[in-house]
Amino acid sequence: MAFTREQAFQLIQDHLKSDMLVKHSLATEVIMRHLAGKLGHDVDTWGLAGLLHDLDYNETKDDMANHGLITTAVLDALDDPVSEEIKSAIRAHNAENLGLTRTSPIDLAITCAETITGLVAATALVYPDKKLASVKPKSVTKRMKEKHFAQGVNRDHIRLCEQLGFSVDDFAALSIEAMKEISDQLGL
Ligand SMILES: [Fe+2]
Repeated sequence: MAFTREQAFQLIQDHLKSDMLVKHSLATEVIMRHLAGKLGHDVDTWGLAGLLHDLDYNETKDDMANHGLITTAVLDALDDPVSEEIKSAIRAHNAENLGLTRTSPIDLAITCAETITGLVAATALVYPDKKLASVKPKSVTKRMKEKHFAQGVNRDHIRLCEQLGFSVDDFAALSIEAMKEISDQLGL
């Protein structure tokens, strides 16, 4: 049988102990699906890579040299095969710590997608209603230039969207629209 989205969602619920990480995974998934649609790639493959990318985070948060590698091992142990494209994209989101180079569009996409989730969410939380509905692409790009805002968000990783043909403004717009689709699940 083919590995399904239901199985992937079950896996992240079993492995990720924090609600915030599950939300981060869902946000990454929906942005990846939108990017794949825009760029003409397989929407389900890109979505699964996004959903699963931090699966081993609880085990590796203090051991980033293994972040992505444990996920690969977990996925390899499943009865239903998970495509190599998904597994290598998951490793690529941690390329710096694994000594890898991001080469394919999915590698670039997973990295900029998972990174912008934090900036979009932090931008939403500044508004009185704390809702994505209030967030404009320009507010996200403005916040991006503020060094002290959401300092943990790697701006260089967001700018990888340019290698996929998106300006940061356009990528911010796509990400906000994508995350709005699951605003109930994200609580934003
Ligand atoms: Fe992540």
